[in-house]
Amino acid sequence: MKIYVDTPEKTAEAVAKKYVALLAEKPNAVLGFATGSTPLGLYAELAKLCAENKISFKDVSTFNLDEYLGLDGTHDQSYRYFMNKNLFEKIDIDISRTRVPSGIDTDPEKAAQYDKDIEAAGGIDLQLLGLGNNGHIGFNEPGTPFGSVTHIVELTDSTRQANKRFFNSIDEVPTHSVTMGIKTVMNARRIILMALGKGKADIVKKFIQGEVTPEVPASVLQLHPDVEVYLDFDAASLL
Ligand code: F6R
Repeated sequence: MKIYVDTPEKTAEAVAKKYVALLAEKPNAVLGFATGSTPLGLYAELAKLCAENKISFKDVSTFNLDEYLGLDGTHDQSYRYFMNKNLFEKIDIDISRTRVPSGIDTDPEKAAQYDKDIEAAGGIDLQLLGLGNNGHIGFNEPGTPFGSVTHIVELTDSTRQANKRFFNSIDEVPTHSVTMGIKTVMNARRIILMALGKGKADIVKKFIQGEVTPEVPASVLQLHPDVEVYLDFDAASLL
């Protein structure tokens, strides 16, 4: 794992440069995207670079990590809505080539089809990840088997509490989500994980320097050959 530490702003710029380089080399790359607070600076930077014609997503295909179960894409807390508002509507992407797992389909077989669709698209060239306070990647909560493919999960209380800031009350936070599995993520050719803020410092130390264990899902990244970790000074403060 390569680790980079800087301010949140410089981190977003540095990661955006990686996308510029990748798409210059492979304009039809397959990108795996994440939602949450962490990538917002990056998405703003990508939108800016696109407006300046320094990057184009015209031929790109995308697969998002996860979606809340029970929310359709028009719900303002769905991850489809988040992606449309924060990135897809601000860049020159063909929206029909953007995929977010369905929050409405609750058939486990259909969830696993997502992996086949990724494979059929040529596999993910670059997967972006955030990091949950409990070490989750996607919505793969502690204990998820490393061999898991896209599946439906029950969210832990800690994840629902962490995400209630976006809802009116805890009761409105969905109890389940559909997420790429750990194996789906590990199949990506390259992975960039971003983590920002003091609140992530403990889990950053654990997943980078601790034991590789399903109890810390992100620790599996120690086994991947091409992972870059971008941290701000706060998130890196315990390393
Ligand atoms: C989002 C996702 C989650 C988040 C994680 C961190 O698609 O899969 O794993 O990346 O919960 O969220 P933030 O960035 O809001 O701290």
